[in-house]
Amino acid sequence: MVQLTLPKNSQVQPGKTWPKPENAAKLTEFRIYRWSPDDGENPRLDTYYVDRGACGPMILDGLLYIKNHIDPTLTLRRSCREGICGSCAMNIDGFNTLACTKGMDDVAHPIRIYPLPSMPVVKDLVPDLNLFYAQHRMIEPWLQTVSPTPEKEWLQSREDRQKLDGLYECILCACCQTSCPSYWWNGDRYLGPAVLLQAYRWIADSRDEAKGERLDNLEDPFRLYRCHTIMNCAQTCPKGLNPAKAIAEIKKLMVERQY
Ligand code: SF4
Ligand code: SF4
Ligand code: FES
Repeated sequence: MVQLTLPKNSQVQPGKTWPKPENAAKLTEFRIYRWSPDDGENPRLDTYYVDRGACGPMILDGLLYIKNHIDPTLTLRRSCREGICGSCAMNIDGFNTLACTKGMDDVAHPIRIYPLPSMPVVKDLVPDLNLFYAQHRMIEPWLQTVSPTPEKEWLQSREDRQKLDGLYECILCACCQTSCPSYWWNGDRYLGPAVLLQAYRWIADSRDEAKGERLDNLEDPFRLYRCHTIMNCAQTCPKGLNPAKAIAEIKKLMVERQY
């Protein structure tokens, strides 16, 4: 039987229960992953109670209530609070999603929150996304052309523009990337669903003139072909996108160009 040795400090311990806010008519219980690189301790799951009369209805509202009123050391990323920046992605109730667009009443209670899985943790709910961004850079996510630059702009027909629907909306939150089992096992070599969806966004753009080079860059047993159509990516995407379909389109183009 295979025996796995868990890395030091990987086991989550029961944590502290913080005092309940006084005079609250309705309380919601949160259990939140806490880990700091500075104290040498194992991660722990702390319990907090949020006064629902004193904050908005979303999970992010609850987290900010905790940070502002109970425990200022709780560390998380957020910016736009409306599902556009992608920075508040975390694992909530077992699913990777955005804290700002997920309602407290839409998940099981107590509300359990962990950082995005499979990435190293910087602190608490903040994952280290450096590898993800390096992989995104690798697909050269910008328009590449060889034709002379037009005086005004690169034009595109309505039909060609519509081919980018379902692709351009990606906010690079990494929810799909970190929910993909193939990426968990081969994240150093497999590019993962978010990066491949972005790669296809440029391959499918009628104005881009580097399609052949882009496909050459993906023609590799690991970068592209580690997708086994498990479909976690499509299930978890908070924007309703389907990275697995984009990956299938790239594979189709790889086959077509052989003939
Ligand atoms: S369909 Fe492919 S990319 Fe999506 S979760 Fe499965 S293996 Fe990963
Ligand atoms: S495809 Fe969806 S889940 Fe994946 S990075 Fe883009 S927005 Fe996030
Ligand atoms: S805070 Fe920007 S997507 Fe949630």
